[in-house]
Amino acid sequence: MVNKKVLITGGCGFIGSHVVRLFVNKYPQYNIFNLDALTYSGNLENLVDIENASNYTFLKNDINDADSINHLFKSYKFDSVIHLAAESHVDRSISDPLQFAKTNILGTINLLDSFKKHAQGENRLFYHISTDEVYGTLGETGLFNETTSYDPHSPYSASKASSDHFVRAYGDTYGLPIVISNCSNNYGPNQFPEKLIPLFINNIINRKSLPVYGDGNYTRDWLYVVDHAKAIDLIFHKADRGQTYNIGGFNEWKNIDLVNLLCDLMDERLGREKGESRALITYVKDRPGHDLRYAIDASKINKDLNWTPSLQFEEGLGKTIDWYLNNADWLDNITSGEYQTYYSKQYEN
Ligand code: NAD
Ligand code: TYD
Repeated sequence: MVNKKVLITGGCGFIGSHVVRLFVNKYPQYNIFNLDALTYSGNLENLVDIENASNYTFLKNDINDADSINHLFKSYKFDSVIHLAAESHVDRSISDPLQFAKTNILGTINLLDSFKKHAQGENRLFYHISTDEVYGTLGETGLFNETTSYDPHSPYSASKASSDHFVRAYGDTYGLPIVISNCSNNYGPNQFPEKLIPLFINNIINRKSLPVYGDGNYTRDWLYVVDHAKAIDLIFHKADRGQTYNIGGFNEWKNIDLVNLLCDLMDERLGREKGESRALITYVKDRPGHDLRYAIDASKINKDLNWTPSLQFEEGLGKTIDWYLNNADWLDNITSGEYQTYYSKQYEN
């Protein structure tokens, strides 16, 4: 039986917590280490169900602290890394680009350096988790595939593009075994309410206005987070070294259509009149540099690894809404304090 020492970074965040849970439960023979700095979006409450598992260790550390990262690699002898730790929100990158360069670029380089120095064994792997936003924007037609040229527009996507390039450069220059996947927009339980879907769910619950940027005709391809975690599991175990995979939901929605659907599903669940939540929609100033459309051609992962999304969007969105309604304490805890300051700075000025 293979015994791996897997370092998952950013495991207390939205996607990371689903990846950690899947690995801890599915691979009891592995040692799973979750390294997370617990920034505003990292939350230990996301993993209460597995925190005492015997194959799980939490390490509170910052990927920007090169000495500590090096020390941890030396002590624990990780053989593989699944790297999710990042600053992840486009709007925050517009107000603080430097923080995105520090964590997403320099933090990734710190991990690569430690991996290069200390990771041993023929199964070693550095798996970098990235976004489809590195490809820039599509017009009304077409899809991103693995050979689409990089053309990032936001400080967030520029920092992720740079980190992807560094990962490939370490693969090419030092012969490190790497893989990268670029995924479309995720949704599901545990997402911090700064992103479209959980922010609007929280606002609908509280009868606050729903700030749609620009004309609302921007398009995103949405994937349920557990389906992303399953794709990561397959790529981690099955992908050839040096490969890139695009992951997407085959599920494009214009923002305004998605918001209308969300409003209707929420009205049903909250016992409100149909149309009550739609009345909260407010068109606000557009995001600068707003990419028009993202859509993924996920045929390579489908063909090579037999992966397809398991959930239809309405089912996934329903499950997501139910999770937020059933976890009011989780939502209350993270929307008090610093969140209020963020919200008023972002939306009330
Ligand atoms: P998130 O913001 O919910 O979580 C990020 C996690 O990283 C948090 O737990 C945070 O505490 C941790 N972190 C941040 N800075 C750190 C540092 N310096 N050191 C250690 N830990 C740090 O983000 P997410 O949505 O879960 O995204 C995870 C990864 O997936 C990111 O790399 C992101 O670019 C990528 N991704 C996200 C999406 C999406 O739709 N959310 C889509 C494609 C790719
Ligand atoms: P977001 O969830 O921030 O993800 P990303 O920018 O990484 O795609 O935004 C998804 C879409 O929703 C994007 O087109 C911007 C739009 N949006 C709004 O219209 N209003 C909002 O308050 C937010 C957060 C996003």
